[in-house]
Amino acid sequence: MERFREKVVWITGASSGIGEALAYAFSREGAHLVLSARRTERLEQVRANCTGPGKVLLLPFDITQTDCHSTMVAAVIEHFGQVDILVNNAGISQRSLAQETLLEVDRRLMEVNYFGVISLTKAVLPFMLQRGRGHLVVISSLLGKFGIPLRSAYCASKHALHGFFDALRAELHDQGIRVTLICPGWVRTEVSMHALRGDGSEHGIVDPSIAKGMDPNVCARRILNAIHKRKAEAYIAGPEKLGIYLKRLAPGLLHWIVRRLPIQ
Ligand SMILES: NC(=O)c1ccc[n+]([C@@H]2O[C@H](COP(=O)([O-])OP(=O)(O)OC[C@H]3O[C@@H](n4cnc5c(N)ncnc54)[C@H](OP(=O)(O)O)[C@@H]3O)[C@@H](O)[C@H]2O)c1
Repeated sequence: MERFREKVVWITGASSGIGEALAYAFSREGAHLVLSARRTERLEQVRANCTGPGKVLLLPFDITQTDCHSTMVAAVIEHFGQVDILVNNAGISQRSLAQETLLEVDRRLMEVNYFGVISLTKAVLPFMLQRGRGHLVVISSLLGKFGIPLRSAYCASKHALHGFFDALRAELHDQGIRVTLICPGWVRTEVSMHALRGDGSEHGIVDPSIAKGMDPNVCARRILNAIHKRKAEAYIAGPEKLGIYLKRLAPGLLHWIVRRLPIQ
C-alpha cells in the first residue's frame, strides 16, 4: 500500500518513539520525508532504517527556537518544493504535582508542546495556502481531553492545542487545508524518561503504564489511517480511551476514577 507516494511529509520529534515509528510507516508508503528533532545522531539512525523509495531530508533543530522556523521551512521548500503533511509530534511530558512545579517548568512545557507547534505551523501555512492544499497533523494526547494528577502543565499544553487547531480547522477548511488532532493513550516510548519533574530535571524512569503501552509501530499505522481518512480527531488507545466518553457522558464518574488512579 502506498497511500502517501510522492507526498512530502515533515515529522517533528522524529528521533524516537511515535515520531520514529511514523517515519518508518510513511517511508514504507512511499512518502518523501523531512525528519526533525534535536538529536542529530538519532535522526541519522532513523534515516538509515527508512526502507521506502522516498528521499529523506534531516533538519535538526530545537522546536522552542521559534526564530529559526522560517529558515527551516525555507530549507524544506528549497529541497522538496512543497509540504503536503506537517506532523507536529515533538513533545515532552511531566511528572510532578502542580504545587511543586516551578512556573518556569510550566512555561517550558507550553514552549515545547504549544508555542513551538503553533509557530512552525504558522511558518508552513503560507506555502500550503499558496497551493490550496495541505494537511496539518497534531499529536496531542487523551490528556488533551481530560486531566490526571502529575500532568497539570502537560494536560494544559495539550488542551491548548485542541482550542487552537479546532479554530484553525474552521478558518482554513474552505482553503483546502485539513487539520487532524491525534490523541494517543499510553504508548511504549521514551516519553516518561524525558518527562520533567517540578524542578525541571528529567524523570528518567519508564513508568509501568508506558512500559505496558501500545507498540509505537501499531500506533503509527493507526495514525496513518486517520490521516488518510482526513479525520478531524482520532483516539488511538487501549481501555484508557474510556476517559473520553466518560468526560462527555458521566464527568462526575471520570473525576472519581481519576482521583483514585495510581500516582505515577
Ligand atoms: N508515549 C505516550 O504514551 C504518548 C501519549 C500521548 C501523546 N504522546 C505524544 O506523542 C508525542 C511524541 O512523544 P513520544 O511518546 O514518542 O516520546 P519520545 O520518544 O520522548 O519522543 C519525543 C520526541 O520529541 C522530540 N523533542 C522533545 N523536545 C524537543 C525540542 N525542544 N525540540 C525538538 N524536538 C523535541 C524528541 O527529540 P529530541 O530529544 O532529539 O529533540 C523526540 O523525538 C509527544 O507530543 C507526546 O506528548 C505520547
